[in-house]
Amino acid sequence: METSCSKTRNPFTGAEANAVGVKVDGVSKTYAGTEVLSNISFDVLPGEIFVLMGPSGSGKSVLLRQIAGLELPTVGTVRVDGQDPSLEETRDRVRLALVFQAGALFNSLSVYDNLALYPREHRSGTEASIRERVMHALRILSVEDAVSKFPSELSGGMKKRVSIARALVMEPQLLLYDEPTSELDPVMSATISEIIATLKNEYSVTSIVVTHDRSLALTIANRVGILMDGKLITLGTPKELAATKDPALVDFLYPKIDIQNPRFKKLENQKTS
Ligand SMILES: Nc1ncnc2c1ncn2[C@@H]1O[C@H](COP(=O)(O)OP(=O)(O)O)[C@@H](O)[C@H]1O
Ligand SMILES: [Mg+2]
Repeated sequence: METSCSKTRNPFTGAEANAVGVKVDGVSKTYAGTEVLSNISFDVLPGEIFVLMGPSGSGKSVLLRQIAGLELPTVGTVRVDGQDPSLEETRDRVRLALVFQAGALFNSLSVYDNLALYPREHRSGTEASIRERVMHALRILSVEDAVSKFPSELSGGMKKRVSIARALVMEPQLLLYDEPTSELDPVMSATISEIIATLKNEYSVTSIVVTHDRSLALTIANRVGILMDGKLITLGTPKELAATKDPALVDFLYPKIDIQNPRFKKLENQKTS
């Protein structure tokens, strides 16, 4: 057994996985004069699972795009392994994979070709070894039957699993997941949680997971950050969060449905007016 943490192998691909850290420093993002992220700072340690939770529209996906280097913050900086993730040379050196909420597969390519695209472009291995990696990743996500299908023939949940399989084929050191369990049934959600945890525990892949799924967050996270209205309002371990007395946080983490609540009355009034 390998005992060193610095050089371990990715269980799904066999690639060397050296953990990378992420530093988000004073990041704000403004679109057409509207600020959607406001002065956000946090560090993600190498090999950590960092979960970002927050209501819809709080800025989770925007923040992931800044971390992935797909967009530049209006103010502040993001560093992945000490480098700017938007630069080509960083992307050549650090293997970073983003699992988009909607999958973002190429519709004109079969599932097989979607997964084989990255290793082919990077000339990593023979076609036979690429096929082996692709099939292995599809099997892990229980979607090997979809290998010859096109994305338009897949359900939402299958697209999501295929896009996670595609990320595994990229042998990532940093995995960014946007809502990885939305649209999945509880059994598949648990499988995804296990994959995220296995990649972290045994093979030190750093993960940032955006989710609404409280049980996913509280079971797999090393730390959880909560975003509201573009601000990071709290950051702590799952234990610390579970013990919180902050009423806004309790409301968010443990929502109660109370039909006597004035906001439902307001909805009724809107309907009839
Ligand atoms: N490209 C964009 N241009 C303008 N506004 C955007 C853009 N992307 C996101 N927004 C706005 O930023 C806010 C946060 O969005 P988002 O990060 O997608 O929320 P969520 O937390 O649900 O992922 C929303 O008000 C959204 O409308
Ligand atoms: Mg989102």
